[in-house]
Amino acid sequence: MAQFSESADVPDMGRRQFMNLLTFGTVTGVALGALYPVVKYFIPPASGAGGGGTTAKDELGNEVSVSNFLESHNVDDRVLVQGLKGDPTYIVVESKEAIGDYGINAVCTHLGCVVPWNIAEQKFKCPCHGSQYDATGKVVRGPAPLSLALAHTTAQEDKIVLTSWTETDFRTGEAPWWG
Ligand code: FES
Repeated sequence: MAQFSESADVPDMGRRQFMNLLTFGTVTGVALGALYPVVKYFIPPASGAGGGGTTAKDELGNEVSVSNFLESHNVDDRVLVQGLKGDPTYIVVESKEAIGDYGINAVCTHLGCVVPWNIAEQKFKCPCHGSQYDATGKVVRGPAPLSLALAHTTAQEDKIVLTSWTETDFRTGEAPWWG
């Protein structure tokens, strides 16, 4: 009768070596398991559709609460948050109950100044060289060559979540230049 230690499963390996291999496998497995959160930490979450997106942060880096946000701003206002890649991005106050479904990147497409919102004129007016954008961020006066970039915005569990805008720019009917 064949002995267990000579099993066909491990024909050329002594029992000690086999056990060493098992131990090594276990230790490696544990080490990799411990490393997983570290590795995950260094890989930024995907920001595309279905990737979870980026939550909007205020100037202190705290996540913006949608309910507080709507309570403390007026309808039609555009309010700056830190959006995708930390870019200053305007969230549209659509109504007392809802934010707009797009955010407007505040970085002027001329030379990169942050463009303030002028609620009285319903325009973004760049203080640097006078470019103007309408309430949706569409360029209406140069020297800025392009409209302000867009991002998708949704309210999820009282947070504002931004994701990349890869579809046609609804203001120009063209593919997004910021792709
Ligand atoms: Fe805005 Fe030049 S940077 S107009």
